[in-house]
Amino acid sequence: MSIDKNAGSGKVSTGHKIQRKKMRLSSPNPTTIIIFGGTGDLTRRKLLPALLELKALGMLPECFNIVGFATRPLTDETYREFATTALKEFSSTREKDEDVISALLSNTHFVSSAFDDQSGFNKLSEKLTEIDDTNGIATNKLYYLATPPSFFHTIVSMLAGANLTNKSFIPTKIESSLKSPPTQKIIIEKPFGKDLESAETLNKLLLKEFEEDDIFRIDHYLGKETVQNILFFRFANGIYEPVWNRKYIDHIQITVSENHGVGSRGKYFEEAGILRDMFQNHIIQLIALVGMEPPINMEAESIRSKKIDLLKSLRPITKDMVNTQTVRGQYLKGRDEDDEIKAYKEENNVSPTSKTETFTALKLFIDNWRWSGVPFYIRTGKRLKERLTEIAVFFKEVPHCLFTDFVGGCPNNNKLIIKIQPDERIIFCFNIKVPGAPDRLEEVQMDFSYSETYKTELPDAYERLLYDCMIGDSTLFPHREDIKASWSFVTEILEGWEELEGLEISTYDPLSWGPKEASDLIEKDSRKWRNT
Ligand SMILES: NC(=O)c1ccc[n+]([C@@H]2O[C@H](COP(=O)([O-])OP(=O)(O)OC[C@H]3O[C@@H](n4cnc5c(N)ncnc54)[C@H](OP(=O)(O)O)[C@@H]3O)[C@@H](O)[C@H]2O)c1
Repeated sequence: MSIDKNAGSGKVSTGHKIQRKKMRLSSPNPTTIIIFGGTGDLTRRKLLPALLELKALGMLPECFNIVGFATRPLTDETYREFATTALKEFSSTREKDEDVISALLSNTHFVSSAFDDQSGFNKLSEKLTEIDDTNGIATNKLYYLATPPSFFHTIVSMLAGANLTNKSFIPTKIESSLKSPPTQKIIIEKPFGKDLESAETLNKLLLKEFEEDDIFRIDHYLGKETVQNILFFRFANGIYEPVWNRKYIDHIQITVSENHGVGSRGKYFEEAGILRDMFQNHIIQLIALVGMEPPINMEAESIRSKKIDLLKSLRPITKDMVNTQTVRGQYLKGRDEDDEIKAYKEENNVSPTSKTETFTALKLFIDNWRWSGVPFYIRTGKRLKERLTEIAVFFKEVPHCLFTDFVGGCPNNNKLIIKIQPDERIIFCFNIKVPGAPDRLEEVQMDFSYSETYKTELPDAYERLLYDCMIGDSTLFPHREDIKASWSFVTEILEGWEELEGLEISTYDPLSWGPKEASDLIEKDSRKWRNT
């Protein structure tokens, strides 16, 4: 389907290529980003390329400094070389402009230290003072914890020990005389805790050292354009909101599937499992955006409060319900054409008797006026048939079928599909008469694709999130209450599963859609998963 973005506006369409450069104009205040884990995979593949793109778009402040922090013995100079290599390998702007890379890295520094060594943090403090003195500006500090979660507590405590946190910071005379003194913000990578108790402990520690407004808990799904678009789509189009409720919606399916296995992340995955790795953060956020009530405006606080209301309305899946409302599965070994696929239990750093789930399917309910009685079916897993993230809203069937004798039979439910990965689309499925055939009914689709309409690559989620941190916009970051509500829901399921510890979990073939029990979960309600 072709879409004219100017239709109805009275403007002449001048083509769809969007100049991303022109989309945002404000530049953040002078900033120094300190990346703990500055040599890690996330920094190389995501953070540095996102910063480069922001630089290329003119969205970084003129005074912008990077400090890497990790154990390996690098100097400022060798870290710059390290970062250049990473950018050349992973950034899409790499061929465009060597000058942009040099400009981004012109103020790049490194502190070589272990995270549990206070003297390293004192060195960091000296380095930060040196950077500000050289620039003649008191820069805002942005601490990015791009490290395994086991280091989060240590790093926050060490930052406090060096008076570098928001609440321990001792401003100089000049800094306290400034109209807006420099800020200290912290960005925490996922996973945020491993259950309700550990998430609460981490929240408490963070709140001891930083204000809630200065804590940015990353869920990179929220930085994706299509995820943000869920709210725009729902609240900028008058025709959907009246039918977005139990009267018109039969059920909702959310699928987040990956076709690869755990790869080198066996150790982490053994402790996490897919419920913690995917559901507690990304999928819960999707449920909140699809299900929340309209906010009073698009301010962070308004959106957050509606999301939190929704998450608090999730009906708990208690221990006695886990058997009927959840399915756990683990992939077996198999083949992909000529390649052998290892079973989960054969992956590196995975126990041969592991009971960690690589797949889960859930049936859940939201106990409020809008969603009462509408099931949400969720499935997520590794080594599934394809890489896909989508939300499928199934509207109710027509009240009376006039087409029982027609080829094609009774019409399918209308469906609205919001695809998030691998390609960002919104598809509406409806039924029509097949031309020329008097008695043929068929389902067709209206299909909007971001890339086909805007003919530009969508910004990476980290670009948007890093920019928002710098300007202090927390709309796209889960609040501590989101985290609390999502962990309460998930911890109850985990505890229920623990009680079933003696039982084997279901298994599934790689490149399938998961265990048979997942189909049973939905088919016993006379419904079917999409794509199966
Ligand atoms: N990788 C991704 O694509 C991705 C995606 C989403 C979320 N995440 C999250 O991002 C975080 C980082 O993941 P990652 O994949 O980047 O991890 P990683 O590749 O293992 O990097 C770990 C970093 O921490 C440093 N480090 C480790 N132990 C240290 C210590 N004792 N003292 C000082 N530095 C130490 C390492 O540097 P040295 O070896 O030089 O010390 C390295 O820079 C995790 O929370 C992960 O869940 C990652």
